[in-house]
Amino acid sequence: MSIIILGIESSCDDTSAAIAKDCKILANIVATQTIHEKYGGVVPELASRDHQKNIIPVVEEALKTAGVDKKEISAIAFARAPGLMGSLLVGCSFSKAFALGLNVPLIEANHLQSHILAHFIQNKKGDKNFPRFPFLCLLVSGGHTQIIRVDAHLKMEILGKSLDDAAGEAFDKAGKVFGLTYPAGHMIDKLAMGGNPKAFNFPHPDIPGLDFSFSGLKTSLLYLVKDEIKKDKDFIEKNKADLCASYQNIIVEVLMKKLKLAAAITGIKEIAIAGGVSANSFLQKTLKDEEKKSEWKTFIPQPEYCTDNAAMIAIIGYYKYINKEFCEQSVVPLARV
Ligand code: KG4
Ligand code: ZN
Repeated sequence: MSIIILGIESSCDDTSAAIAKDCKILANIVATQTIHEKYGGVVPELASRDHQKNIIPVVEEALKTAGVDKKEISAIAFARAPGLMGSLLVGCSFSKAFALGLNVPLIEANHLQSHILAHFIQNKKGDKNFPRFPFLCLLVSGGHTQIIRVDAHLKMEILGKSLDDAAGEAFDKAGKVFGLTYPAGHMIDKLAMGGNPKAFNFPHPDIPGLDFSFSGLKTSLLYLVKDEIKKDKDFIEKNKADLCASYQNIIVEVLMKKLKLAAAITGIKEIAIAGGVSANSFLQKTLKDEEKKSEWKTFIPQPEYCTDNAAMIAIIGYYKYINKEFCEQSVVPLARV
């Protein structure tokens, strides 16, 4: 008999519900909060309030789209950590209450591991183009930048991580400097297409091993812009495409340098990317170019599964259901892991 999982994601500013039937996604509904745009970043209290407004309509829509009755749900999986406490609480409380009401098991999901498991969503019938274990995953999101060795669906080890800002944060902070709305990664990606990636030089962060640092990059951008604006107040407007292309180029260079190092150290050639920044077209192109040069086999999530979504929560829920990894009603969310 098929396993039907309701996945709930509310760790930051997207309220999402998805229905998985085994490894297939029948519905993945995302309500993206736009209220934060004018503040240049996520305002935790507003995010929590919007999740409260959105959670029931999003779940109802997911069930309707999937053509699934709530009585058919086998278990409810929710993002427990990491994230904003007020946001996580909404998804956690809702899931606990709904699971209790339906008398079905509750499954807690790690948001970051879930991003990686998005690679195991079966799209078409018989589609089995999944990464083989062990593989490396570059997880690049708004809150995290990590290189992870994945040995099994639920067995992972962090090999390197950012010591300060995440790659997505570096995009978003630059967006603020360029006068773009939050989150800016997608817009920088678009503007960069018309720019010269070598127009401006940014220093490479000198971090040993597989760790990253992106905070210096943002500071060097700020200094550059401050100096140039003194000479020409329209500097940003006149150079926006070149600035975006050059800044994006250095981020991708840094990510690829560490990914290549991780592949060399581990000898692993199955390479995946995941998280919001994995939607970046230049990162995707650079990864595909490297695939040819290094005989890697690379994996990029479908666009809707790069940024936050509940489909990935439902999929990790499926694997935990098979393993009978359920949690108690006393479970609480965790802002950090
Ligand atoms: O995974 P995600 O949706 O949320 C977190 O878990 O943080 O990632 C959001 C991040 C934001 O920083 C956003 O600017 C970035 O992903 N992002 C992109 C692109 N699309 C989203 N960054 C670069 N290029 C993109 N195309
Ligand atoms: Zn995420």
